[in-house]
Amino acid sequence: MATSLSYRRMLEFLNSAASRRFWQIVPRQQFHKTTSKMFANEDDFNAAKERVNLLKEDPGNEAKLKMYALFKQATVGTCKTSKPGAFDFVGKAKWQAWTNLGSLDQESARQKYIDMVQQLLDEQGVTVDGSTTAEEARSTEKFKTLNVTSEDGVYKIMLNRPNKKNALTFDSYNELVKALDTAGKDPTIVLATITGAGDYYCSGNDLNNFMSATPDTMSDMAKDGGVILNKFVSAFIDFPKPLIGLVNGPAVGVSVTILGLFDVVYSTNKATFVTPFSALGQSPEGCSSYVFPKIMGRAKANEVLLFGRKLTADEACDRGLVASVFPDDKFQKETSRLVDEYAKLPKNSMRLSKNLIRSNDKDLLHKVNDAECELLVERWTSDECVQAIMNFFTQKAKL
Ligand code: COA
Repeated sequence: MATSLSYRRMLEFLNSAASRRFWQIVPRQQFHKTTSKMFANEDDFNAAKERVNLLKEDPGNEAKLKMYALFKQATVGTCKTSKPGAFDFVGKAKWQAWTNLGSLDQESARQKYIDMVQQLLDEQGVTVDGSTTAEEARSTEKFKTLNVTSEDGVYKIMLNRPNKKNALTFDSYNELVKALDTAGKDPTIVLATITGAGDYYCSGNDLNNFMSATPDTMSDMAKDGGVILNKFVSAFIDFPKPLIGLVNGPAVGVSVTILGLFDVVYSTNKATFVTPFSALGQSPEGCSSYVFPKIMGRAKANEVLLFGRKLTADEACDRGLVASVFPDDKFQKETSRLVDEYAKLPKNSMRLSKNLIRSNDKDLLHKVNDAECELLVERWTSDECVQAIMNFFTQKAKL
């Protein structure tokens, strides 16, 4: 659709650095003139006006218009100016926002302005003196099993137990939930990626997770494991921003099934995908019992989920689990380039589109997750499963 000149100008203006002045809103001289009418929380209001400068990120046009309107209402009162002309789009948007506040009294407008500034600062992790930003908080966030970094709107999670092929301990599950929660809430983050350190992407559930159980504690431990897994899968179902899987090597078990909940998966040609649930006396998780047949077709999904057929990267791509496969020597460079490009796209548009796509079966996914976890809790205490895990470690001990 063609964009009119005035509309384009408005967009340019709203996205420009100059728009900071627009939402800080009133020139300093005018600000001092108007504040003479104030009482009660005048100091807080003045402080809020200054603290707007501490925001690290543009809070978006909707927030800026609201702040403008509250400021005008607080300092001037009800809007009595005439509506700007038809082609003054910016002026009209500001006038409309101010007019929408109707007869809200000035003191309430001041308080709302103060609250709004505080809320925006909180969302961006800025403290009273502006010293701690969300980014600084993230960079000091320590995980035992993950390496997490963020840059230019990309939150990068790396599974970081290369000596154990990045097998997922209970700590790993909990830390992934925490990392996704942080990325989801941080307004500076546009999208997140998950990859693995070393030659493996991930060898699935750490089979040691249940090794400390005795026959007496096995049942409780399985139940606790079910709760942890349920929360872990829910974090992927509910993650509000684009999530990209960067499969840098072989993937096993839950690290494969959960890929069905990512928005896009890229893989090196050295990766393989296997879910040896039946061999281990277990059953599918990560909503794969629903998502895999949907994306692969029933028969192809059953080959994987029931019979543990190992897929090459190209097969995973043909079956719709993976979007593109890259030669191993180009994988890091090519995927970084793509991710950086994606992170520059309008973040609200991507977030809302993802929400729309996910909303079609979000409730169903949670139900599937519950059912899968329930069955797994039962399976983990089965003779078949206990025996299979014992075999894994006994065979390793013999090598
Ligand atoms: N749980 C616990 N430990 C694991 C693991 C897992 N899922 N995957 C790998 N490890 C450990 C190994 O025990 C080994 O530990 P060690 O050095 O203390 O002996 C280390 O990681 C390296 O693995 P290793 O088996 O020596 O490497 P490999 O290249 O020969 O084989 C795998 C890699 C992934 C094929 C093999 O480790 C494996 O089959 N792991 C189990 C995978 C699995 O069944 N996951 C659960 C799916 S439901």
